Amino acid sequence: MLASETSNEGRETVSVENRIKEIYGELLEPRNPVRNPELIVKKLREEYRLLVDVDLVRIVVASFINGRPVMFEGPPGTGKTEIGEAILTLWAGKKAFLLPCSENYDEYRVIGDFHPLMALKHGFSEASFVPRTLLAALVLGAGVLVDEIRRSSEEFQNMLLDIIDKRRIVVPELKKVFKNNDIGFQMIFTSNPEDIAQNELSDAFLRRVIRIKFNYPDPKKEAEIVRLRLNAKARLSSTLLAMMIEAANKLREKAMHKPGPADTVEWAQLASRIAELRGSSKVEARDVLEAGRVVLTKRDEDADDVEEILAEFFGRS
Ligand SMILES: Nc1ncnc2c1ncn2[C@@H]1O[C@H](COP(=O)(O)OP(=O)(O)O)[C@@H](O)[C@H]1O
Ligand SMILES: [Mg+2]
Repeated sequence: MLASETSNEGRETVSVENRIKEIYGELLEPRNPVRNPELIVKKLREEYRLLVDVDLVRIVVASFINGRPVMFEGPPGTGKTEIGEAILTLWAGKKAFLLPCSENYDEYRVIGDFHPLMALKHGFSEASFVPRTLLAALVLGAGVLVDEIRRSSEEFQNMLLDIIDKRRIVVPELKKVFKNNDIGFQMIFTSNPEDIAQNELSDAFLRRVIRIKFNYPDPKKEAEIVRLRLNAKARLSSTLLAMMIEAANKLREKAMHKPGPADTVEWAQLASRIAELRGSSKVEARDVLEAGRVVLTKRDEDADDVEEILAEFFGRS
């Protein structure tokens, strides 16, 4: 159904803005924006169960105020996507849009395109235009998490930067410029520079984004992250948890697939569930071993390293 307005002459007009509100409005879950770094950190922990340093949030907030997009760069599983999405949502007071990148993404896929049958009937008009994520975010003043930017083409990257610089989107076929000065409209890019078979980012791109490095947390912080996330009932001792994190760090040096905190969390969670299902209220080394084998071996090449490191820490069974 189209959002239509009937003008004085009784001629039907359809606006892209109204259609965007109709299609995407419900997804926004409006709330009060949170723009103070300390408060954002508090909400991230309490609402999203994400542990984030205030220094990082402060840089993001300062960049947004300066009208600059931010890029989170670092290894997989270090929270880039989840943290980015949550910060954008808190900042705008609206749920952020997620844009996963792929090689063949172009403006039609993210701004909008024309419905072929509608275009036959109405021509290239607002009635036949199907708005997509990025245009919706601009019109609604919401944030956009552009995930894995290295998987996109250089043209695509430049198009995104141009939009954020000028805070406008031009759709030539409609002879229309969409503008919005709502500072809720922001972008965070994520990128993993170690991912092979990915494109280099251009100098033009790097010049215009604020790059923030993500890395593996230190063991104390990683333990805190696992505790924040763990919700199985079986109790995991601090000693076992510390051993798991040490083992994960060893694998980060050796294995092809380097486990991130996301994997450590998954590992602890699975070990606790296995203990629970055994009817035990306490996680034991054998649960950690069993869970570790499946969570940490993402590739066959790593199986021997995983086995060796697990045996060293948790014995063989
Ligand atoms: N700082 C953190 N606070 C809470 N959980 C974290 C944190 N860093 C990583 N995680 C774990 O990783 C998951 C998110 O990883 P994700 O955002 O997909 O990482 P990336 O995008 O860097 O690959 C969370 O669900 C959680 O299990
Ligand atoms: Mg990610």
